[in-house]
Amino acid sequence: MEIKEGRKDEFFNELLQKLEQMTNWDGRKLVKYQGFWFPLNYLRPLLSAQKHFKANDSDIILSTLPKSGTTWLKALVFSIANRSIYPNIDQSPLLTSNPHKLVPFIEFDLYWNEENPDLTHIPSPRIFSTHIPLNALPNCILESSECKIIYICRNPLDQFISHYYFVLQNFVSKDAAPLELDEAFDMFCRGVPGPVWEHMLAYWNAHLENPRKVLFLKYEDLKDNIGFNVKKIAEFLGFPFSLEEEEQGLIDEISRVCSFGNLKNLEVNKNGYVMDGLLKNSSYFRKGEVGDWTNYLTPAMAERMKKLMEIKFQGSGLMF
Ligand code: A3P
Repeated sequence: MEIKEGRKDEFFNELLQKLEQMTNWDGRKLVKYQGFWFPLNYLRPLLSAQKHFKANDSDIILSTLPKSGTTWLKALVFSIANRSIYPNIDQSPLLTSNPHKLVPFIEFDLYWNEENPDLTHIPSPRIFSTHIPLNALPNCILESSECKIIYICRNPLDQFISHYYFVLQNFVSKDAAPLELDEAFDMFCRGVPGPVWEHMLAYWNAHLENPRKVLFLKYEDLKDNIGFNVKKIAEFLGFPFSLEEEEQGLIDEISRVCSFGNLKNLEVNKNGYVMDGLLKNSSYFRKGEVGDWTNYLTPAMAERMKKLMEIKFQGSGLMF
């Protein structure tokens, strides 16, 4: 039986009252749900997705922490999975649409305004992305579907700096100045928002348990050798490149079209918006470098995070 609108709000408000809340370093409210600090306005779409999302076996779920390479991964997977539809890469929709328009977020796009949107009309393979931690994913993704998950993570120091400047650019209102960088970093090291290490570790362990279900990538590895990783993604998805495609240079072409330099300079990414005009496309393309944290954080701050990671990842095999 469907719950009436008013009752839904009642359930939601009752749940909210039971959850811990705090203010994030950017002035926005956070709520702790299933072990993670989420932005408060994220909770309702998350609950809707947990309740209603039905995974198809052919679905591809891209899972990331914010600012870990989501945009890049969306571009790559879209290009790899749809290469038979757009064999000529110069006609790829990526050249006229931001990757976030082509691959929607489960929580921000699909369930943001609607409790139970109809997703059945989306052609296979459906590609969705999410920042939801593994333990909070809709159950069917892990338990009753053969769908694939690709996770990309990034050195937490670079991820933090990228996030800080993204928030500064997009979310800061005149009456709520964000905390200074060192205060924000202190919260980050105390697991707010996040904890990021638990987000990474859960997907890492899921990858170790079932590497055919979960592919685990690192931003730094993609920077180091994109061609190798494009091939790896295609193999994981079950659409390996044929010899002919390789000889035609398709791997290099996809790598080139999805590169930071190419995407950043496209007209659509210089001037367009996503999320109903809330976020500038250009804000997804800042520097795209490895190690940019050295320009902002002191060696002592870096050491603190390094030690934390060593403790949290001890014995897991995961390291940066
Ligand atoms: P920086 O802020 O360090 O430049 P996300 O896509 O998860 O929001 O992450 C954004 C980060 O990825 C930003 O990092 C952005 O510049 C970088 N990025 C975006 N597109 C990229 C691409 N095609 N190649 C490499 N990095 C990219």
